[in-house]
Formats: sequence, C-alpha cells, structure tokens
Amino acid sequence: MTKWTENEMPGFDGRTVVITGAGRGLGLITARALARAGARVVLGVRDPARGRRAVAGRPGSFDVRPLDVADLGSVRAFAAAWSGELDVLIHNAGVMDIPAARTADGFDRQTATNYLGPFVLTNLLLEHVTDRVVHVTSQLHRQGRIDLTDLDWRTRPYHGMAAYRASKLAVVLHSLELQRRLDARGSVVRSVLASPGIARTGLAAHSRSDIVNRVRFLTNSPELGALSVLCAATRDVPGNAYVGPGGLGGLRGHPVLSRQGKNGLDEELAGRLWAVTAELVGAATRAPELPGSAAAG
Ligand SMILES: NC(=O)c1ccc[n+]([C@@H]2O[C@H](COP(=O)([O-])OP(=O)(O)OC[C@H]3O[C@@H](n4cnc5c(N)ncnc54)[C@H](OP(=O)(O)O)[C@@H]3O)[C@@H](O)[C@H]2O)c1
Repeated sequence: MTKWTENEMPGFDGRTVVITGAGRGLGLITARALARAGARVVLGVRDPARGRRAVAGRPGSFDVRPLDVADLGSVRAFAAAWSGELDVLIHNAGVMDIPAARTADGFDRQTATNYLGPFVLTNLLLEHVTDRVVHVTSQLHRQGRIDLTDLDWRTRPYHGMAAYRASKLAVVLHSLELQRRLDARGSVVRSVLASPGIARTGLAAHSRSDIVNRVRFLTNSPELGALSVLCAATRDVPGNAYVGPGGLGGLRGHPVLSRQGKNGLDEELAGRLWAVTAELVGAATRAPELPGSAAAG
C-alpha cells in the first residue's frame, strides 16, 4: 500500500479552513500545508502577533485571529465574528498533563482546552461548516475514563495524565455523538478524528509522566505527526472516521484509516456526555447553540 503523504492532498483552492492553536507545533505545520494547497487558512491563536510571525513569508493565504479555546468568552467572540462558509474546522489546540488550574469560566483548564472549548466552538460555528469538523485526539483516549458526575475535576483529586486521557476520550465521544446528530438531520457534514501518534512537539513540556519520556525513541517527526491531521482534514473518509499512524500500534508512521478504542464507540455514553457537557457549558455561556438538541434527540 502506498504511504499517504502531502502529495495525496487534493487542491484546496477557494476553500476556507479554521485551525485552532496553529501558532506552533502540529497546528502550524498543518496550517502551512493547507495554505500551500490553496486554502484560505484562518489560524485561531492565543498570541496573534506570534501567529502572524509564524506564517509570515509563507506561500498561501493566512488570516490570524485571536482565540483562546479555554475561555468561552473568547470562543464566543471568535464565532460571532465569523461570516461566510467554513469548509473545514480543525480542533487542534491542546495541552497535556498541565498543573491543576481553573479558567476564567471556572473550569479545569486541561478539560476546557481539550474538550469544553472545542465543544462550544463546534456548536457555534456548525451552521457555517460545509465539509467536516476534525477533532485532534490521542491514542491515549483508549485508557480514558469519563466521570459524568465530575467531568470537570471538582470533587476528585486532579491527576494531569488522567485528565488528558479523559479529555481525549471526551473528544472521541463528542465526534461520535456529533456525527449521529448530523446524520439525523440528513447533513452531509462529517465529524472526523485525527490521532497524530507521538510526535516531537512542545506538548509534553509540562509532563512529568514517565510514559512520555519512555516512548521518546518511538516518536514521529512533527511533520509526520501532522500528516494524520492533514489526512483527516482532506481525504474522503466516512463520518466519524479515525485517522492515525499505521505503525507501532497507531503510534508511528504514515496515516491510515484506523479505528478508535471500544470506549470511544459507546453510543449511550456519548449521548450522556453530550447532555452533561451542554449543561456544564450552558451555565457558563448562557446561550449555547446546541445543534439538534431536542429534534434530533
Ligand atoms: N505531539 C503529539 O505527540 C500528540 C499526540 C497526540 C495528540 N496530540 C494533539 O495534537 C494537538 C497539537 O499538539 P502539539 O503536539 O502540536 O503540541 P504543542 O506543540 O504544544 O502545540 C499546542 C498548540 O495548542 C495551542 N493552545 C494551547 N492552549 C490553547 C488555548 N487555550 N487556546 C488556543 N490555543 C491553545 C498552543 O498555543 P500557544 O502557543 O498559545 O501555547 C499551541 O499552538 C493537541 O490537541 C494534542 O493533544 C499531539
């Protein structure tokens, strides 16, 4: 089988892509590649000046806008400023194993960055999306455990890696339920998952986890890790597809159409998680646009 590379990407002329957290790491590589393919790439970043420097002089069309996905006020402002079609929305921004901290809305920062903010941003932008929403998850979702009574680490002692694994499982379940709701409406929009395997980026900067350090020798270059995101964003794949490296148990190599863990295919849990999340962020956002809430069930 031929290896999927950037050369397999279709032309993206005239298409618009939003990618969050794209000022560095996998997001920046993905943004540059999509712009090279002809897309108008909107980078949602915490530090727009740094974001502009990161794409300055690069071929293609870039539009750098302020977005802190862990701050629902920022998420709302980004979405409110949107007009026109949005072909592909890529939720790339993420943190791993950070110390316990609360956001301006009072949420656990890791859960808010990796899951709650993207959940709200999806709901607010979905009416504009024409092709797909891509959620960047991790193979670690397979070890994730969701506590629906304490999604937000209020009553349990916080554990950085457990919060990461849980947030990435929540992302996988979000994709499952989102696709179900899109299908129920007869929408052609797809929800797709991308797993970069393990790539040498700044993601583990805060982590004291042995696991991360022990597997360093298995790592992909950032460019190879970003290929899974690019593949999920551009290849013709079914709804709720899981795209990730084909080698070493999904950790290394070129992207293939793979499969999420069994825990990520639990429809009942996905539906309950959506309801609990909507309630949690609804209280913080006051007016969340939750697609298909009553009608699609
Ligand atoms: N690298 C891997 O091996 C690996 C494996 C599995 C999954 N992933 C996932 O891949 C995605 C990208 O990670 P990476 O490896 O490229 O890590 P990275 O180099 O640390 O980049 C993370 C990006 O997310 C942004 N970000 C963090 N918090 C944000 C917020 N509140 N609002 C907006 N942007 C925010 C960062 O922006 P700032 O510059 O402002 O900090 C940065 O651009 C993450 O979702 C991660 O979980 C990575």
